[in-house]
Amino acid sequence: MKRKILVTGGAGYIGSHTTVELQNAGYEVVIVDNLSNSNAKVIDGIEKITGIRPAFEQVDCIDYPALKGVFDKYPGIKGIIHFAASKAVGESVHKPLLYYRNNLVSLLNLLELMPEYKVEGIVFSSSCTVYGQPETLPVDESAPIQPALSPYGNTKQINEEIIRDAIYAGVPYKSIILRYFNPIGAHKTAEIGELPNGVPQNLLPYLTQTAIGIRKELSVYGDDYSTPDGSCIRDYIHVVDLSKAHVVAIERLLEGKSKDQLEYFNLGTGNGVSVLELIRAFEKTTGVKVPHKIVGRREGDIEQIWANPRYANEVLGWKAAETLEDTVQSAWNWQLKLRERGIM
Ligand code: UD1
Repeated sequence: MKRKILVTGGAGYIGSHTTVELQNAGYEVVIVDNLSNSNAKVIDGIEKITGIRPAFEQVDCIDYPALKGVFDKYPGIKGIIHFAASKAVGESVHKPLLYYRNNLVSLLNLLELMPEYKVEGIVFSSSCTVYGQPETLPVDESAPIQPALSPYGNTKQINEEIIRDAIYAGVPYKSIILRYFNPIGAHKTAEIGELPNGVPQNLLPYLTQTAIGIRKELSVYGDDYSTPDGSCIRDYIHVVDLSKAHVVAIERLLEGKSKDQLEYFNLGTGNGVSVLELIRAFEKTTGVKVPHKIVGRREGDIEQIWANPRYANEVLGWKAAETLEDTVQSAWNWQLKLRERGIM
């Protein structure tokens, strides 16, 4: 058995897929999740796929004594992958204090507990949102950080700074900050996937819910951007590809392969895809139409961003492998499975 990893937010979308990949790679996983935007049934899905039931504690990372209790209950945690966070950009504008409390206090608690329990490394979920609208594309890790457009984005920036300052102060652990582009899709078994509470804010879940008839029509936020077809461009990456990068990152931390005590990697495919292109790719791959209409721009949206993933490719030896077609098909299979199970 390989080492024990604490996965915060492990019942969530990226956390659950990463737990699967960690277990497949032989790691022992302890999940903590407050289930604020997820469901305990996800643990069953993880067990179905891997044959292993991860340890699960319904604990909120902002609750210091409860979090400390997890380290006491599961001695020997060597690494942390910290996903647990509130992540709705729009909601963060209306509930900034909630976002600052959840997203900052969780990290502070973990960083404070790490030395006491001799945890050697932490992988942090950050976002390409820290780059704002980059001047040059594709964007690499040396691009300047720009002022955040939302409290959510600001929490990612501040969390990166907290880790940087802690490392500078000489803490005895290492960190890797992963800046995600746009994760989409689901596990090929359709046992786990993205299940947002309420009306989805992100493109793919809204699109698949429209395709299956739960939503009447998908709104495309703007076709007057300076892009070839006028809609926004993003770098959509299969969630399983993204998850595999976490396994490489934690291994790098725990096996002493990091070049520095703190490293940053962009996780994307390197391909920019517009909203309209994504809709077309979905329709062509699945044969299912997506009713959609063009509406005005969404406040705070970035026009176009996609990754230069070369540094991650070369240094981590990791590369996004799934095609866009397989990725959107996996999202559709997951939506179909939700209906089959009577969940949505
Ligand atoms: C946003 C955040 C990102 C965060 C992620 C997690 C920004 C700039 N980015 O990503 O930091 O990690 O959410 O939730 O704040 N779209 C439509 N119709 C829809 C929904 C989306 O046209 O109904 C378009 C958007 O305008 C955008 C693209 O689809 O161009 C992707 O949107 P979305 O899935 O919400 O992700 P981001 O805004 O890129």
